[in-house]
Amino acid sequence: MIFTSSTKAIPAVSKVPRHIAIIMDGNGRWATKRFMPRVAGHVKGVDAVRGIVEACVERGVEYLTLFAFSSENWRRPQDEVSLLMKLFVTALEREVAKMHANNIRLRVVGDLSRFEPRLQELIAQAERKTANNTRLTVTVCANYGGRWDIMQAMGKLLAQGMPPPAAGPLPFSEEQLAEHLALSFAPEPDLFIRTGGEQRVSNFLLWQLAYTEFYFCDTFWPDFDGAALDLAIASYQERERRFGRTSAQLEQGE
Ligand code: IPE
Ligand code: IPE
Ligand code: MG
Repeated sequence: MIFTSSTKAIPAVSKVPRHIAIIMDGNGRWATKRFMPRVAGHVKGVDAVRGIVEACVERGVEYLTLFAFSSENWRRPQDEVSLLMKLFVTALEREVAKMHANNIRLRVVGDLSRFEPRLQELIAQAERKTANNTRLTVTVCANYGGRWDIMQAMGKLLAQGMPPPAAGPLPFSEEQLAEHLALSFAPEPDLFIRTGGEQRVSNFLLWQLAYTEFYFCDTFWPDFDGAALDLAIASYQERERRFGRTSAQLEQGE
């Protein structure tokens, strides 16, 4: 376990969220409102990603995790799915060199086996190239689902023939499971943002959001900029993160 588990120990809390996780929602509605095809919203959405990555670097955020394509998004019309895949390929082709020059590490998590080989290869190359960068870790969740994540982590534990027995009723501990989750290289998110007006988790990081602060806004993702991010961070800074304790305990510095 590299990072504190919020249910096992109380994590350090900093003024600027160390890890922000975002459901980038509202691309389709952004386009429809303008009488444009939905894909135009996805194209604009890539520009918004670029802006938010820059804003996170400027604000000293260490981890930015973006939900780009869920395990349920395959249910969309075939043309939209294939356009999203093409967009993913071009975004990787265009953006990775710049990210590398800016000392940004890129990770892509999810069940990547369902993607075409060219996309899988680009992902592997991008991860290799940026592996040692330290300024910001950008994680793109692609064909990701929170349930998939927990299931695949369990699968890895089982494949290992289970770790040495832990104390307690189960043959493994929470930490042993967490080590196999897709985001084991990052601390748990401090701040969760969902744009586009819906207030649900849509099978995003189910395990990792245990003590994350939630922020919902109506802004469609293509319009989400540095100023919108600052509003989310300001809201975060007003929260009292108690992790199960009382306010009085926090005031006493316990
Ligand atoms: C989010 O925007 C992007 C993806 C899910 C790929 P949507 O495409 O869900 O946009 P809305 O919610 O239909 O407006
Ligand atoms: C969640 O958005 C997934 C991504 C942003 C990638 P959706 O638009 O797919 O979520 P639902 O279907 O409204 O719950
Ligand atoms: Mg949506």
